[in-house]
Amino acid sequence: MNGDPSVLGEAARRRTFAIISHPDAGKTTLTEKFLLYAGALQRAGSVQARDGARSATSDWMEMEQTRGISITSAVLQFPYRGCVINLLDTPGHRDFSEDTYRVLTAVDAAVMVLDSSKGIESQTLKLFEVCRARGLPIITFLNKLDRPGRSPLELIDEIEERLILQPTPVTWPVGEPGDFRGVIDRRTDEFIRFTRTARGATMAGQDVLTATEAAAQLGRTWEAARGDCDLLDATGQTLDVKTFLAGDSTPVFAGSAITNFGVGQLLDAVVDLVPSPSPPFDRDGVPRPLETPCSGFVFKMQANMDPSHRDRIAFVRLTTGRFERGMTLTRAANGKAFSTKYATTVFGAERDTVEEAFPGDVVGLINARDLRIGDTLYAEQPVVFPALPTFDPEVFASARPRDTGRFKQFRSGLAQLDEEGVVQVLRDPDTGDREPTLAAVGALQFEVFAHRLEHEFGAAVELGGSPYVVARRTDAATAAKLRRLTGIRVLQRSDASLVALFESKYRMERLIADNPDFMLPANASGFAGS
Ligand code: G4P
Repeated sequence: MNGDPSVLGEAARRRTFAIISHPDAGKTTLTEKFLLYAGALQRAGSVQARDGARSATSDWMEMEQTRGISITSAVLQFPYRGCVINLLDTPGHRDFSEDTYRVLTAVDAAVMVLDSSKGIESQTLKLFEVCRARGLPIITFLNKLDRPGRSPLELIDEIEERLILQPTPVTWPVGEPGDFRGVIDRRTDEFIRFTRTARGATMAGQDVLTATEAAAQLGRTWEAARGDCDLLDATGQTLDVKTFLAGDSTPVFAGSAITNFGVGQLLDAVVDLVPSPSPPFDRDGVPRPLETPCSGFVFKMQANMDPSHRDRIAFVRLTTGRFERGMTLTRAANGKAFSTKYATTVFGAERDTVEEAFPGDVVGLINARDLRIGDTLYAEQPVVFPALPTFDPEVFASARPRDTGRFKQFRSGLAQLDEEGVVQVLRDPDTGDREPTLAAVGALQFEVFAHRLEHEFGAAVELGGSPYVVARRTDAATAAKLRRLTGIRVLQRSDASLVALFESKYRMERLIADNPDFMLPANASGFAGS
């Protein structure tokens, strides 16, 4: 048989997305409220006091500890309205790393959460750019409208101007800042009035009024919101699914995750708007039909984060076919068979085995020592998916073994962790592995590197500072010129490609402006060679 037609129905029920936001915009709160609204959680607890020091676990693991619920550290799966929702975690705060970006290669859409008093913040912007480079559709949630913030119209303008993305509000807030009453649903012109429940632990009360009823009851408050909507109508900023799917417009929803206002409407939008998985393209740009035998790619590796499970898990986004636990998949990179006996959905400290999964789902393969980030896995019909992007590093460190007698172990750990994508290892051809430079997008990657080198490879490592602040890919001709200049270093990746490191961003920009022939391409939106 060439394909399994029942897979099409299962794939059509999948909604696979991630939330992108700046720390503190409300991603964790919203995630929890999604669970509440989907019926996966009876009561939402309040965020426990935080000591500010986050560990190398995801926000969800923290939620799991503080709220006593089971949530996977990589993906949260729950049913809602006949669909299977897969919400992938984008680690933030201290644990921001290349993994955070790579998650966005495994989703079909993103929900961008903005704190209404702050608008678009730096981390949101970075993540947005990765979404844009992939053409991912984005739904926007204006959060924290329960408290005084910026005017929603101003926020809409900011989205349009800074992201070059057409905002198309679907719901619009009603009420003075700090006195958020509900939303206008612009599709029906109805007023959805919310009432608070104690600490937002249960769903907000909700009643629906016609525009006439709302005008009679709310008077000027209603008129003000209606006036905003008239402006939006006049500028044609209304929901347009086609441009949304193309990544050119963003449906906007108003709300407050803490009080649950607008959360139900947003979750419904995930079902109604997030596209179900579509046939993936292989390396040559040929689409592989969804019903062809199982295939997927590894987008994240997690190792030894939990001391009671000293192994390595590869997270695989399934792209086609039916996955059944125990089936044998082939690793495209070397043609070797890989048993999926230990397939799992990873629930923090606990693990549930997964028996069956479909396109859009994520499975965790345990004991995946031979797998690498970006690997394609397939059953029966060979395929290779495009390489995952690499990202311009933003933080740098030097590394050397504390005990020179452990150099051999240091060296093999270095090679392994580089290959796994834990950090990027950059070497000076003259000194090689003696004191390589580590590069990453988040400093936590260095901590994971040092921890694993010591505990898995037995080589304690000393991390040192690095004067460099920005890196660009380059070629041999430009490298030869750059090597003559001070404040710049050209190093090599393990695949022999060259990377130029600069001590000042300004200096780099000047150099590029003065030397248009230099090959120092910006890693457009974090994507190299994609
Ligand atoms: P994050 O995962 O994006 O980092 O954000 P998180 O959900 O942890 O929320 C960050 C803070 O913002 C929390 O406050 C949370 O309660 C608050 N918050 C989230 N959504 C809303 C909202 O809709 N309205 C208001 N007013 N606040 C919101 P905290 O100070 O860290 O904790 P707590 O003291 O409030 O419990």
